[in-house]
Amino acid sequence: MGEAVTLNSNSHNHFRLKTNLTVWVFYSSDRFHLHISQELANCDNLSFETISLHSLVVANLAHFSPPDLIFVETGPNWAQKVMELQHYEAPQEQQDNHEASLIVFGNENDNGALKIALKIGAADFISDRVVLSEMMPMFKNAVEDKLASRSIGDMYAFVNTKGGAGASMLAVNTAIEMAKVYPEKVLLLDLDLQFGVANDYLNISSSYGLADAIANVSDMDEMSLASYVTKHKSGLHMLTFKPENGHDNYDKAKNFNKLLPVLREVYPYVIVDLSRGLDRIFASVIVPANKVFLVTQQNLVAVKNSARIIKTLTFEFGLGREQIELVVNRYEKRQSIKLKDISETLPGVKVHMIPNDFKAAVESANLGKPYVQSKKNSSLAKSVIQFTRTLVPETEQKLSWIKRLFS
Ligand SMILES: Nc1ncnc2c1ncn2[C@@H]1O[C@H](COP(=O)(O)OP(=O)(O)OP(=O)(O)O)[C@@H](O)[C@H]1O
Ligand SMILES: [Mg+2]
Repeated sequence: MGEAVTLNSNSHNHFRLKTNLTVWVFYSSDRFHLHISQELANCDNLSFETISLHSLVVANLAHFSPPDLIFVETGPNWAQKVMELQHYEAPQEQQDNHEASLIVFGNENDNGALKIALKIGAADFISDRVVLSEMMPMFKNAVEDKLASRSIGDMYAFVNTKGGAGASMLAVNTAIEMAKVYPEKVLLLDLDLQFGVANDYLNISSSYGLADAIANVSDMDEMSLASYVTKHKSGLHMLTFKPENGHDNYDKAKNFNKLLPVLREVYPYVIVDLSRGLDRIFASVIVPANKVFLVTQQNLVAVKNSARIIKTLTFEFGLGREQIELVVNRYEKRQSIKLKDISETLPGVKVHMIPNDFKAAVESANLGKPYVQSKKNSSLAKSVIQFTRTLVPETEQKLSWIKRLFS
């Protein structure tokens, strides 16, 4: 992972990285500005911002994506200017888990500048005439660090305890609500091989299916994965099986376990619609899931099935009780089976409740508009929003990445 590859013999000075890197370049001279811009432009997946050190306004940096590398050219007062960066307050969403390295560019024989660079925490001091090929090992390391520091995504599976209990609708709306908090970071997987509905519930169509992604798993990385996923305007990404390719889907599904680690590496949150029940073929999803939500309703069959599925999850799949939670969908107070009866029948399992709202649910399904967006104020949407909050971890206040850079 992470190696740079020369594209072809005609573009011997053109390189590609396996994941995106962002560089902020603070320049002192126009010569360096021009030179480094020309060099960096020849590297695919590397985006950069150039900022004049003379006219640096720290507050304006918040408009840029946070950098993986910060380049600084030595020049008049350069070190003081760099120290000013410490006053930069990164936007809240950029605070978590971000790391950047400082690289100083200057005359390699300038011992004074070299010493200052080390003192302020630079990871390297490089000639200001360096060419792209000489910088590639550094970019390659940055890519590897970035990939290694990436933790594996949380995964939540929604399983039906009876056909039509509502697992798909809950999975879709939960995923949309999560994507509101973490846009482009949530992946919804619809693992139904024949009757996937996620696309219809969101009124989108995909050019590729999960089977295509599985078929190409051997060269799958973040960049290639982006061409298989479908993006909803909310910022939610999706992968679904194309229902018209039934046979192929079944064949490819056997290798789904090979694709899953890549998905979890790229997406911090993976929501899985497993509404068709527990299929061994998808054991790779069930076993490591942070939570398996059993979607049930207030009727005897569904509750009985829930008990049976909990047993299977515990004894055959080896899940702990804390991994399993029950969602009573279409809840109505007046039903003869009460929440208390369900909790007593299924001890040790946390129970959530989603109210019955036939009109909102049907309208949302028919129009392809998730109710957490289109019916925000309904009690149905509110309860799903509240449910989603139980999954999204509290954001802790951490030392901003720019402060860590100098600490
Ligand atoms: N909270 C709710 N209140 C009222 N109706 C609901 C609710 N949740 C879901 N429904 C209705 O139930 C129907 C089935 O929902 P959904 O597709 O989510 O079920 P499923 O469990 O995934 O079904 P399948 O077994 O087909 O996979 C939907 O058409 C929707 O209108
Ligand atoms: Mg379903």
